[in-house]
Amino acid sequence: MAENQWITLNNQQKMPLLGLGVYKSADGEVESAIKTAVDCGYRLIDTASVYKNEDGVGRGIRKCSVSRSELFITTKVWNTAQRMGDIEGAFNRSLERLNLDYVDLYLVHWPVPGCYLNTWKELEKLYASGRAKSIGVSNFSIQNLEDLSRISDIVPVVNQIEYHPLFVQDELLAYCQEHNIVVQAYAPLARGAYLTREPIMMLANKYGKTPAQIGLRWSVQKGVSVIPKSTKVDRIIGNGQIFDFELTESEIELLNGMNENFRSASIPEDML
Ligand SMILES: NC(=O)c1ccc[n+]([C@@H]2O[C@H](COP(=O)([O-])OP(=O)(O)OC[C@H]3O[C@@H](n4cnc5c(N)ncnc54)[C@H](OP(=O)(O)O)[C@@H]3O)[C@@H](O)[C@H]2O)c1
Repeated sequence: MAENQWITLNNQQKMPLLGLGVYKSADGEVESAIKTAVDCGYRLIDTASVYKNEDGVGRGIRKCSVSRSELFITTKVWNTAQRMGDIEGAFNRSLERLNLDYVDLYLVHWPVPGCYLNTWKELEKLYASGRAKSIGVSNFSIQNLEDLSRISDIVPVVNQIEYHPLFVQDELLAYCQEHNIVVQAYAPLARGAYLTREPIMMLANKYGKTPAQIGLRWSVQKGVSVIPKSTKVDRIIGNGQIFDFELTESEIELLNGMNENFRSASIPEDML
């Protein structure tokens, strides 16, 4: 992978800008999705205990064409484990299902009120043990990040949030970038919601690219990592071909203007 396809985290670890998301990839189909993705150059796989497919992800990792050390594997601690205060147990079970002895990134999936500061303290221990090479957060607001900074000297390497042209969270992006936290876009395709819209279609036409490639390119040009999900071979391959063209500054602005603060992913019931 070329140098411009990686981003350096605040602990000096390198993370690919592009990854494969596996939410809703069934345990059976995720293996072949990982094989396809790795064969065409992806090195990051994003799963979570709540996706119920860590076993399949583990099998996919073992079957793919590169060694484990070349891959960047992310998983996340779910809200129930946070409420039960069982972070280490949840982490151990994830490692067991993945059949790995470490993950590259372990994330707090949601800032569960009354729990997430304690959860972070537990993640610090996993980081110190070397079994989580990096630790980060997901769905954290500026307020959540500020609260974290008051109790910990370890800055999350990543904040994984919903981010795409219909949900341009640029105030949060600016805060994260100022504090050396990489923003990683989940639902970077808004689950398909912007793919037939203008000006996405116009730019797809101009560059001879798919609408998905235009949306993903817009994110990575803003320094935002993307983890599009697909289980279809042609889409996995296409979604990865975003490093061979460049949008202009005014085109980036044009896509910023599509913002509608539209959330394509639902907020879990226990977080409402
Ligand atoms: N931290 C969090 O709270 C959180 C929340 C949500 C998601 N995530 C992570 O982010 C990843 C991505 O988000 P997401 O899966 O919600 O949404 P997404 O990646 O925006 O969209 C996935 C959907 O788009 C389809 N798709 C993929 N490529 C396409 C293309 N080129 N053209 C048309 N349609 C295409 C997929 O269908 P097919 O599979 O049929 O191709 C799937 O239905 C997840 O898989 C998960 O790893 C994290």
